[in-house]
Amino acid sequence: MKGLILSGGKGTRLRPFTYTGAKQLVPVANKPVLFYAIEDLVEAGITEIGIVVGDTGDQVREAVGDGARFGAQVCYIEQDAPRGIAHGIKIARHFIGDDAFVLFLGDNFIRDGIAAQVAAFRHGAMNAQIILHKMDDPSSMGVAVLDERGRVARLVEKPKQFVSPYAVIGIYMFDHRVFEAVNSIQPSARGELEITDTIQYLIDARLAVCAHLLEGWWIDTGKMSDILEANRLVLDILEPKNEGQVNGDSRIEGRVVLQNGAVVVNSTVRGPAIIGERTRIENAYVGPYTSIYHDCLIQDCEIEHSVVLENSQIVDAPARIADSLIGRNVEITRTGGNTKTLKMMVGDHSKVGIL
Ligand code: DAU
Repeated sequence: MKGLILSGGKGTRLRPFTYTGAKQLVPVANKPVLFYAIEDLVEAGITEIGIVVGDTGDQVREAVGDGARFGAQVCYIEQDAPRGIAHGIKIARHFIGDDAFVLFLGDNFIRDGIAAQVAAFRHGAMNAQIILHKMDDPSSMGVAVLDERGRVARLVEKPKQFVSPYAVIGIYMFDHRVFEAVNSIQPSARGELEITDTIQYLIDARLAVCAHLLEGWWIDTGKMSDILEANRLVLDILEPKNEGQVNGDSRIEGRVVLQNGAVVVNSTVRGPAIIGERTRIENAYVGPYTSIYHDCLIQDCEIEHSVVLENSQIVDAPARIADSLIGRNVEITRTGGNTKTLKMMVGDHSKVGIL
């Protein structure tokens, strides 16, 4: 089997981070979301991987390279515009050939990997396998309606009215029959070739479409709250490690990872937390469920339950920062003595909550 990861598209819901950065490269516990997808495929025995890229293709290429460090061979497939997930399959035909494959949406995140589902697909004589996740409100997802025997009867993309609690997660398995589907369906009202229409085509053609109900957790990291949740869940299972330095009167409490070259001076870091490469924490408090990425400076301030992207500086912030996602190359500083005044330069579509 081969792997096809979709890492193009526009991450409008994660703006402004994704104006310049690929949303699939936003780190969860200091590792890009996309890397977890590659690792899941390799763990399931799939090492020939194609990655569909769009505007942010150069960043994705630079981050992933030829795949050797993951034990995989990675090639790239250019998509001229985000014309839909099924369009991503269509343009990957030359890479996939007649092989079966796993389609993995690059912003999807699953804790327990996909080895079990891949094994079931390999041995199950199916044309397609989808994975379902029961949710109270799956209205922002593709949704599967099951018949009385638990078989997939119908799929609806982002239903306006409740039709079923089963969200279809962004990890799918197909054999070559899927190409007939993606070449037959028409763009939806939003102008995309939809993955739900593709699977519906296979069902209508009476091919074997099976559903696997996911027990563990899954997150579509498309929204900020989802990034914080994914970060929390991964930090909860991270093994503590110290590849950095702890100086002066500092305290490291609980499960903390200090990555290579991280420096903690006169500070408390209370885990679970991860501090990135060459990042400096000085006279500061870093609280639980915080990931500070590489080359940051956190000085004279308090931060918890937050994700900070690379090369950002938070110095002398007048209040504790919590529940926040802070982008790349950001500077947060106190510029005067008056703590009742906020001076900010905030990018388009940002969200600032002041209590
Ligand atoms: O996360 C699961 C959901 O993913 C499914 O339940 C939906 O049925 C499916 O349509 C999809 O919905 P999203 O609205 O979350 O899809 P999004 O536009 O965010 O794209 C998912 C990934 O695929 C993302 O990493 C970008 C990439 N992509 C997307 C499109 C439309 C591409 O590479 N090319 C594209 O043309």
